[in-house]
Order: sequence, then structure tokens, then C-alpha cells
Amino acid sequence: MRPKVLITREVFDEVLQYLSQYFEVTSNQSDAPFDPGTLVAKLSDKQGALITLSDKIDAALLSQCPNLKAVCNIAVGYNNINLDACTKARVMATNTPGVLDDTTGDFTWALILATARRLTEAEAYLRNGQWDGWKLKQFLGLDVHHATLGIFGLGRIGQVVARRAIGFEMKVIYHDVRRAAPEIEQACRASFVSKEELLGQADIVTIHVPYSPATHHLIGKQELEKMKPSTILINASRGGIVDDSALIEALRKGSIAGAGLDVFENEPKLNPGFLELKNVVLAPHIASSSKATRFKMAMLAAQNMVAALTGKTPPNLLNPF
Ligand code: DGY
Repeated sequence: MRPKVLITREVFDEVLQYLSQYFEVTSNQSDAPFDPGTLVAKLSDKQGALITLSDKIDAALLSQCPNLKAVCNIAVGYNNINLDACTKARVMATNTPGVLDDTTGDFTWALILATARRLTEAEAYLRNGQWDGWKLKQFLGLDVHHATLGIFGLGRIGQVVARRAIGFEMKVIYHDVRRAAPEIEQACRASFVSKEELLGQADIVTIHVPYSPATHHLIGKQELEKMKPSTILINASRGGIVDDSALIEALRKGSIAGAGLDVFENEPKLNPGFLELKNVVLAPHIASSSKATRFKMAMLAAQNMVAALTGKTPPNLLNPF
């Protein structure tokens, strides 16, 4: 009997074919997310689950899925998976690091430029038929070149963002739980500063840390108050790292100039306050979404699954085994 694997969302045909060589695969090609009850029911007889960040794997689910041996996330972030519960239940958990760094870094730059130069606001004005000619003071934005870029988290994606800043001749400062190795700082031309220094000095603050209880509301009311009124905030990491209500208040009051956001608390529900603001650029969690990268992510997750269920150590195992 071949192991049974559930794929919780639509994937590329090649990924489906690859997994079908090894397993009896059930795939949700309709792409509608399963509610928690349906997910448990569908997983109760499966050995493997190829999941996305909207599928929550916790102790309650694991206790009802006794056959489960592997949960393979199609994402580098894995805050949807309770790793301790997986370890206790002898379930391997994997993620997809490395393959999305450049693409996510590129998109961070799309947000930086669009927010600094008020691109979506200007486009809406044009589309609404409001443009009646060139004006000297129209849509005055923030210069990105030679500005100070403040990066929270100089991990793989933070480093990509920093290296792209060299082309804009920016000053790059960063803060992290640990200082990076000298060769990384040198390659990124980035200087380590305290959290307070970063908040006070950066013209552009961009976040590249994983979500955890320790990073929950890393940027809240107090942090926003420490930023300059001309600062813009960028978040392409995870919802919950920024306190969305505090950010909306800061954007309303003008205590910071703007924000570019790809991630939100309670996705896919959006705090309606964002929609009333002009000084925010919004995207539906697509920073890693280039055709090539999403394919690589899904294929890497599938390779992790094959390794896990054929007696090998998956390349991206997250928990001890
Ligand atoms: C990740 O890999 O964690 C991304 O957020 C998914 O796009």
C-alpha cells in the first residue's frame, strides 16, 4: 500500500505528478481553503500533508490524525505549525528556505519604491480621471536614493534587500537579535544599531524577521512614535509583527509618512482602516509570487515529503528526529 498524501491547495501539475509517483495523492485543485474540521477529517487517514501557511497544524489536529508522519509547508515561515506538538506526535515538519529570498527581496523593493513615490495613490488619481495637468507640487514623495534604510532582521531576505540598496547609494543600518558576521555586514554594507537608533534614524524601515511570540507587535504604538514623520514602513514578512491598529492610527495622524504592506494581522481579513488611507500601498501576501519561485517552493515541499515518507531525512526538516 502506498502512503496517502493530502495536498491542501492547488499546486502545479508537475508537483502533482511528482508526488503521484510515490503516493496515493488527494489534491484540492479547487483551491478553496479547508476549514479546520474538514482539514482534520481529510487528514485522519493520511501519512503526509502538503500544506500552506493558512493550514494550522496544532496539537488538537495531530491528536486526531494518528497516521500522520510529515507536514510539509509550502512556505519558509512556519508559524502555522506547532513544532513542539509535531515532535511529540513524531510528525516531521518542513519548510522551504532559500528558494524565495531574491523574489521576496525584489518585491520588498517594489513596495519601497511604490510607497516612497506614492505610485498607487497617483495611479488611482489618474484612473479616476482627476488629472488635469502637471503641477510642481503634485504627489511629492520621498527620495529613495541616498536615504537611510533600516532593516529589522539581516537574515537571508534582509541581506538581499540590503544588497539591492547599494545600487541606490543608501546608508544601510540594521537591528537583529544577533549581530551578523563581519563578512555579511561588509557584503551588505550594513551597520548594526540598537532598535531605538534604527527607529529614530531610518527614512525607510523594512521588516524581515520571522513571526514568533517574541516578534509579535515588534512594531507597535511606541515604536511608531519613535520614527520620524517622514519615515515609511515596509512589511513583507508576517502579519502580527506590526500592530495593524497602531499603524493605521499613525498613518491617519501623519506621525509616519506611509506604509507598504504585503502581510496583515488576521489574513485574509483586512483591517478596514487601511482601505480608507491614501498613504498605504497594499498587496495580498504575494512577495514570493513569481512563477519560477512559487514553482520552486512547491517542488521543494514535495521533495521534503518524498524524503520524509521514504525513510530519509528531509532537506528542510524543522524539528528534531
Ligand atoms: C513564506 O514563504 O513564508 C511566504 O510568506 C509565503 O509566501
